[in-house]
Amino acid sequence: MGFLKIEDLKVHFPIKGGLFGRTIDHVRAVDGVSFTLEKGKTYGLVGESGSGKSTTGRAIIGLNHVTSGKVYFEDKEITGVTKAKSDFRKDIQMIFQDPYSSLNPKKRVIDLVAEPLRNFEKLSRKEERIRVQELLELVGLNPESILKYPHEFSGGQRQRIGIARAVALKPKLIIADEPVSALDVSVQAQVLNFMKEIQDELDLTYMFISHDLGVIKHMCDHIGIMYKGRYVEEGTAKEIFDNPQHIYTKRLVAAIPDIDPRKREEMKQFRAEVNSEYEQSYNDYFNEEGLAYGLKPITDTHLVALPEKG
Ligand SMILES: Nc1ncnc2c1ncn2[C@@H]1O[C@H](COP(=O)(O)OP(=O)(O)OP(=O)(O)O)[C@@H](O)[C@H]1O
Ligand SMILES: [Mg+2]
Repeated sequence: MGFLKIEDLKVHFPIKGGLFGRTIDHVRAVDGVSFTLEKGKTYGLVGESGSGKSTTGRAIIGLNHVTSGKVYFEDKEITGVTKAKSDFRKDIQMIFQDPYSSLNPKKRVIDLVAEPLRNFEKLSRKEERIRVQELLELVGLNPESILKYPHEFSGGQRQRIGIARAVALKPKLIIADEPVSALDVSVQAQVLNFMKEIQDELDLTYMFISHDLGVIKHMCDHIGIMYKGRYVEEGTAKEIFDNPQHIYTKRLVAAIPDIDPRKREEMKQFRAEVNSEYEQSYNDYFNEEGLAYGLKPITDTHLVALPEKG
């Protein structure tokens, strides 16, 4: 079936209003999303702010309710399982965007990193200390720093503490929600490369959430592109970057800053073409509500949101 499979996931949030605080409408944060993650690969979820990326990630591990749809992990349904101690919560960990606020500032490194261990394993103080030191070493931090507090580390180092915490229970899947967005550009590449390095070593599958297509390109094998709670396109990295089909994807790809000076002219032209295509053909790609259509396959792996015919 698949390692992680999401079927027609919907997460709607009520909008309250009026005199009695009744539900007057819903935010359709995730509105019918389906995809499958392959074991050992990196799946990227990309889209602009508010497109529903985090809500999708959080719904998978039960941090958001699920309005409808199904989530399967290793062929077991885990839809809406919220218990922190359920089995799969050991196997699926999440890394968050902001290493400043996701780590409790009052806790020492040893307690932060050992916290997930304490939920699932009975270790003596000594065993725990050794495990935490091994984990710090693994993420490239000084194992002697177990008694320090988060504020004594740089942003990049703090995100490494977050990673040490996430890998403490030897998870199979890590959902990384904008793991480097809060970091200086110079540190981003270090943390991303480090995540790649440990992927094979620890046999990890990543689901990588980012609004930055450059980061996604660097990391991902398969990519899903979200817009207003729906998918506009899905494909391998090559299909998305070399042969984008949906106008929204084309715009995202065209907006990646040019790194290669030889391609600058080419990209400038592509950008101009895409912008004029967007003006002219918006209605071919979005319905009356400005939402994406259902996905249609154009190859085994490449799917594009297009209206029923043409
Ligand atoms: N708990 C909530 N209650 C009500 N609305 C919510 C809630 N969480 C998210 N939303 C709304 O759902 C939509 C999707 O939000 P989400 O955080 O998933 O977007 P995102 O793609 O992760 O954006 P960003 O790139 O800014 O992180 C937004 O309109 C947001 O305001
Ligand atoms: Mg988000």
